[in-house]
Amino acid sequence: MTTAAPQTASEVKIPPPPSGRGLLGLRGMPASDLRSILSLTRHYSDIANERQADEPLLKGLAVANLFFEDSTRTRLSFTLAAQRLGAHVIDLAGQGSSFSKGESLTDTALTVEAMGVHAMIVRAKGSGSAELIARVVKCPVINAGDGTHEHPTQALIDIYTLCEATGSLDSFDLSGMTVAIVGDCASSRVARSNIAAMSSLGARVVCVGPPGMAPASLRALGCEVLHDLDSIAPEADAIMMLRIQWERHSEAVAAGADAIRKRAKLGSLRQYRELYAMTRERAESMKPGAWVMHPGPMNRGVEIDQEVADGPRSLILKQVAAGVAVRMAVLARTV
Ligand code: CP
Repeated sequence: MTTAAPQTASEVKIPPPPSGRGLLGLRGMPASDLRSILSLTRHYSDIANERQADEPLLKGLAVANLFFEDSTRTRLSFTLAAQRLGAHVIDLAGQGSSFSKGESLTDTALTVEAMGVHAMIVRAKGSGSAELIARVVKCPVINAGDGTHEHPTQALIDIYTLCEATGSLDSFDLSGMTVAIVGDCASSRVARSNIAAMSSLGARVVCVGPPGMAPASLRALGCEVLHDLDSIAPEADAIMMLRIQWERHSEAVAAGADAIRKRAKLGSLRQYRELYAMTRERAESMKPGAWVMHPGPMNRGVEIDQEVADGPRSLILKQVAAGVAVRMAVLARTV
């Protein structure tokens, strides 16, 4: 319970932003920068759910949510975070805006900025979209997930939650930990941001899935790649399950589910579940104190079973809960 939360930018010790404007990704970010965002998250997590928590660091500023792709967690938690910091928030979605009439991403962003916006939160289908917008606007841009590229605030959430669960909020040091990321790693921006940041903080990161979803080429990002979940499950400290991102297997989508499975070298869904789903039996094979994570949205009964998602190893709702504080920290640091 915080009774005397700092109220102004001069009272809150905000570290300088990472190089560049806003936050486009975590790849290449020094561990010291990651730790300072996570430390600031700790400050905000103490107050994010308090009734009197409003800390008007961004009072009088306007933050725009530009979400050209659907979202529940990211969009709402960025909105709450900006409001908690005292900003006005405006919302624009691809559907229902002039983007659907053919206006480009960059013209849309410039149009919104011209109304007097001080920061933009961007989610889009195309990898590199947030950077494209950051190149044309003057205000900071925060990447809220761009194609298969990066989802930096989600990875910060995942790391913060894991450190909270393992009692390492003082150091944010993941040395000695093994984190398995399981499923459609090739399509996953969450996987890419987590590989970069978790490795930088000392973790061993192992991507696991069928060859089409966990190709050997991912090793270039600094992780290991395995195709056998049962060989790593008993030694992992945390296993992060990923949804199969059907919508990103775009050419195959047009040709139907069989083509998707073929392209992903997936076999049948039943076979996928046998090899890669987080079932109760697989969760029981994990060591005591190991955690199951999922960035959401999850497909219960596909990549994760009900009793594991709601079970004692699950950090899934704690990940969601950390979202507001992480995004307050990122906004405070970059706006
Ligand atoms: N994890 C995540 O990005 O969820 P949303 O798509 O609901 O924002």
